[in-house]
Amino acid sequence: MQLETQRLRLRPWEERDIAPFAVANADPEVRRYYYPAILTRAETAAMIADCARHLADHGFGFLAVERKSDGALIGGLGLSRAGQEIPGGPHVEIGWILARPYWRQGYALEAASACLDHAWQTLGLGEVIGYTSRINHPSRVLMEKLGMRSDATEDFDDVTVPEGNPLRPHVLYRVKAAALSPITS
Ligand SMILES: CC(C)(COP(=O)(O)OP(=O)(O)OC[C@H]1O[C@@H](n2cnc3c(N)ncnc32)[C@H](O)[C@@H]1OP(=O)(O)O)[C@@H](O)C(=O)NCCC(=O)NCCS
Repeated sequence: MQLETQRLRLRPWEERDIAPFAVANADPEVRRYYYPAILTRAETAAMIADCARHLADHGFGFLAVERKSDGALIGGLGLSRAGQEIPGGPHVEIGWILARPYWRQGYALEAASACLDHAWQTLGLGEVIGYTSRINHPSRVLMEKLGMRSDATEDFDDVTVPEGNPLRPHVLYRVKAAALSPITS
């Protein structure tokens, strides 16, 4: 699976991506809404290996995002099977982690829009979900910009986060495949 946008290439992970992605995952600001927060290099390497396995098993996955102009690895973004802990599954979820130097340049919106087009047009999915902690404002705004909507009745707690931790309450967003326009003659 490989997707191309005007400025970005979304492609399978390679060995050379481990170092720059480990830098992003060691940045407390990037990992601010994750529990536990920062990752070691070995944990990032394991995550990349999981992504490769998921891609091989399902034909879609959480991909490396490379900037076309200079080949820089700006982060990871893509589709994956959501965990069983998400109510009402099975679901396919969209997710993202970009390194801080690349924030606020429209890259996440550009890459995620291409992923959703791929979900509808190539994978034939009917719905994609996203979820994050209630306080993750940047990701919530991004999901809303992508046309994703949440319903307060579907809010849930991530039970892997301790009670009382502000990252425990989560919101669930959904977006359905756009209806295809009827062919008119
Ligand atoms: C969330 C994240 C992917 C956004 O990436 P990005 O490339 O900066 O997003 P974009 O530039 O495409 O922004 C799209 C829109 O999202 C919103 N947005 C992005 N970052 C924001 C922020 N820090 N505060 C408020 N709104 C924000 C804005 O509306 C923005 O559009 P605008 O710049 O025209 O106002 C990035 O901040 C990130 O990787 N964060 C850490 C990882 C993370 O929390 N992942 C989710 C865990 S569940």
